[in-house]
Amino acid sequence: MMNAKDVIIACDFASAEQTMTFLDKFEGEERKPFLKIGMELYYAEGNAIVREIKRRGHKIFLDLKLHDIPNTVRKAMKVLSALDVDMVNVHAAGTVEMMRAAKEGLTREDGSRPLLIAVTQLTSTSEQTMQEELLINATIGDTIIKYAQNAKAAGLDGVVCSPLESTIVKGACGNEFMTITPGIRFAESAADDQVRITSPARARQLGSDYIVVGRPITAAEDPVAAYRKCVNEFLNINK
Ligand code: C5P
Repeated sequence: MMNAKDVIIACDFASAEQTMTFLDKFEGEERKPFLKIGMELYYAEGNAIVREIKRRGHKIFLDLKLHDIPNTVRKAMKVLSALDVDMVNVHAAGTVEMMRAAKEGLTREDGSRPLLIAVTQLTSTSEQTMQEELLINATIGDTIIKYAQNAKAAGLDGVVCSPLESTIVKGACGNEFMTITPGIRFAESAADDQVRITSPARARQLGSDYIVVGRPITAAEDPVAAYRKCVNEFLNINK
């Protein structure tokens, strides 16, 4: 079966007000954008903002990157499962046992649950830092493959990684194992603080299932046009 593909807008805003001003621009759009709520917005506005965005009909990736002892993560995921979001995540570094516990906690009585994905190595961590500070004696590529395999062994649906790593993750874990990839830029736009970047079209070619796009849409002069361009490029729609 083909995985669902979509563009996820990273709503990296500090308040509900800023978020709603942004979302109002999309009123009347045929395609309701899939949105990512990260720590900044969630810690500022809590479950109320999640419910409000859900009420407006958007799918939500709640990007809270849980990492704790398995029992705590299981119980936290149980709370999050009641929020009716569509995707949540954990750090793969929390171990296979923690990821299994996360999935157990997230699964509702009727067997349904949001997609559950794992962060491998953050793209902000360099190989040198990983080896010198974390004493991980491997290449960053091998670490990402191992963490993805651990996530798969725990029954998770996929991993967050760079689009350039999609191919090796799929090679190691199979094509159905999802890759959710930030680090997206239009060819002509600024890289900001992202280093390893690709365009939406290239991310599609490399096998990404979901691309996470922040500033190229949120900081665009016309965010709706930027979103449409992203969707058209990523889903290869030639309108
Ligand atoms: O604005 P930009 O497109 O760079 O935003 C990318 C989003 O993806 C941000 O919310 C960032 O926190 C997130 N992210 C990332 N790299 C990772 C994991 C998450 O850029 N490895």
